[in-house]
Amino acid sequence: MPGLELLKLPFPKVDILGRVVIVTGANNGVGLYTTANLAQLGATVIMACRNLKKAEEARQQVIATVPDSTSRIFVRHLDLSDFSSVKTFATGVMKEWDTVDVLINNAGIVGQKTRETTVDGNEVSFQTNHLSHFLLTNLLLPVLQRSTYPARIVNVASMAAYPLTKLNIDDLNFEKHYPDIFELYPKTKLSNYAFTAELSRRLATSPSLSHISTSTVCPGFVITGLGVNVDEAAITAIREKGGARPGHEGAFSSVYAACSVEAGEAPKGEWRFYDTYAVKQELHPVAKDEEVGRRLWEESRRLVGRFGGEVTL
Ligand SMILES: NC(=O)c1ccc[n+]([C@@H]2O[C@H](COP(=O)([O-])OP(=O)(O)OC[C@H]3O[C@@H](n4cnc5c(N)ncnc54)[C@H](OP(=O)(O)O)[C@@H]3O)[C@@H](O)[C@H]2O)c1
Repeated sequence: MPGLELLKLPFPKVDILGRVVIVTGANNGVGLYTTANLAQLGATVIMACRNLKKAEEARQQVIATVPDSTSRIFVRHLDLSDFSSVKTFATGVMKEWDTVDVLINNAGIVGQKTRETTVDGNEVSFQTNHLSHFLLTNLLLPVLQRSTYPARIVNVASMAAYPLTKLNIDDLNFEKHYPDIFELYPKTKLSNYAFTAELSRRLATSPSLSHISTSTVCPGFVITGLGVNVDEAAITAIREKGGARPGHEGAFSSVYAACSVEAGEAPKGEWRFYDTYAVKQELHPVAKDEEVGRRLWEESRRLVGRFGGEVTL
C-alpha cells in the first residue's frame, strides 16, 4: 500500500508523543493527512469515522506511512448526522481512555442540492458541520479536563465563510430559506467561528476547564473529497479556476494548532484563527460578537434535543 505524503513542520512543537488525539472525519482528505502527521510525531490517534470499512483502509494507509504507529492508531465509529452516535462514541472513548489531549473537529460536508434532514430533524450539513461537533465537544469535556498537555480543541472552519457578515441565528436549519450549496456551505462553516469563540469564553470562566485552549483553522483550498459527491463538475471547475493545492497541504494548520508551542500559549479566553499557512488572521466579526456567540450556544443546546441537558457549560 502506498504511503501518504507527510509535511515538513518547521515550527517549535510541544512533545505530543503518547498524547491522545481525536480526529473526526479522519478517513479522507485533511483529516487523514492530519492523522498521518500526528502519528509521525508519536501521537495516539483515534480516527472517528462513519464508515468503518473506509476507515480501516485509511488506518492501513497511515500505518504504511508510519510503520511504528500500528498500536497507536484506532478507528472508532462516529456518525455526525446522528446525535445518538455522537453520544455512543463519546461514552466509548471515556471508557477506553482516561484522558484526551487534543480534539480536532474536522469532518465536514458541502450539503445537498435540496434540503435533507438527519434522523434528529436538522438540516444535514448544519448538523454535520456544527451541531454534532458542538455536542461532541461538550460530552468530551470531562476527559479533556484531565489532560496535562494541556488540552486543545481545534475546529476546522473555512475562509469561505469570511465574506459573510451575519450568522442567521433565526434560521440555522435553513427552514425559511434554503440556499444553493455554494451559499449553504459557508453559512454552516460560519458557525464554527462563533462556536469556537463562545466555547473559549465559557471555558475561561469555568475554573476546572480554563486550562483548555481553543483555535479555529482553515486548511486552505485543497484537493480532497469535499463536495465531489454533490457536484463533481462544478467542484472540479472551481478547483481549476481557484488553483487548489494538493490535499496533504491542508493538514498543516490543524497540525500546527494541535502541537505548536505558540498555539498553546493563547491567554485564557482568547482563541486564534490560523490560515492554511498557520498564520494568525484577524478574527471574524461574528466571533467578536458575544451576543451572537451566546445565542448560537443556546440555540445549539436546544437543537441537540434530548442531549441538551448534557451541555453543562
Ligand atoms: N478541501 C478544502 O478545500 C477545504 C477548505 C476549507 C475548509 N475545509 C474543511 O476541511 C474539513 C475536512 O474536509 P476535506 O476537505 O478533507 O473533505 P473530505 O475529503 O470530503 O473529508 C471529509 C471527512 O468528513 C467525513 N464525514 C462527512 N460526514 C460525516 C458524518 N456524518 N460523520 C462522520 N464523518 C463524516 C467524511 O467521511 P466519508 O468519507 O465517510 O464521507 C470524510 O472523512 C471540513 O471541515 C471542510 O469544511 C476544506
